[in-house]
Amino acid sequence: MGDSLEILKQLPENSVDMVFADPPYGLAKKRGLGWKYSKHITLHEAWDIFTRDEFFKFNLEWISESMRVLRQGGSIWVCGSFHNIYQIGFILQHLDAKINNSIVWFKPNAQPNITRRMFTESTEHLIWAVKNHSKTKWTFNYDAMRALNDGKQMRNMWEIPLTPKSEKWAGEHPTQKPFELLKRIILASTNEGDTVLDPFLGSGTTSVVAEYYGRNSIGIEKNSEYLPIIRKRMSVNQAKIDRGESEVVYMYPE
Ligand SMILES: C[S@@+](CC[C@H](N)C(=O)[O-])C[C@H]1O[C@@H](n2cnc3c(N)ncnc32)[C@H](O)[C@@H]1O
Repeated sequence: MGDSLEILKQLPENSVDMVFADPPYGLAKKRGLGWKYSKHITLHEAWDIFTRDEFFKFNLEWISESMRVLRQGGSIWVCGSFHNIYQIGFILQHLDAKINNSIVWFKPNAQPNITRRMFTESTEHLIWAVKNHSKTKWTFNYDAMRALNDGKQMRNMWEIPLTPKSEKWAGEHPTQKPFELLKRIILASTNEGDTVLDPFLGSGTTSVVAEYYGRNSIGIEKNSEYLPIIRKRMSVNQAKIDRGESEVVYMYPE
């Protein structure tokens, strides 16, 4: 529990095999009048409000520190929307990361656009980049991905529905990611026993999936109101692992 800008600095360099980050998208300020009438939105998304300069400085800082902690040849995955993903890509290239793919996550059940003045946003974007690829090979579990895709090569367009209610049993987090999304990423870029770092753990999805598939995880989250959700999800997950259940589709309470 804490601020990743502080905690990342305390982690040794080259010490984790993969970073997954689902950082603040810098979206909340766009809600304008919504805050005036909804305390709920202000309260829950205060972590997403930045000025333009603050946002760039913040992104540069956490990405630089994450790259330092990542091992040579390790993968960094960042999830975002058009609001932040171009800036993230620019910073990764500036730091000499090699971008291997950008993945389009298509959400077939995304919410409709009520303004009718633009296309309905129904995608998020993921960048997969690697540190110092020329010195050490990166991990890509090609066969595991093909097996998840009915024996065909997996493409960079992933159709995954919004996080189902059945995965949100442990409490409310506004941007909880689906188990399936993290499953693909972690199984693609790590092996059993590897360590995955998430600087913006939220409701704990990265650690739940990593530990479910026999990886170690380090998660940082600064908002203590999400801690009970993380704890509940991790303990149910551990119970499933202890029982040797081979596949989790959705996380139900016991
Ligand atoms: C987009 S959400 C991550 C959601 C997560 N992937 C999940 O599946 O639940 C971003 C999270 O980062 C946290 N956060 C924002 N700034 C932070 C910081 N400087 N250090 C640590 N956590 C931070 C927020 O509280 C929020 O829970």
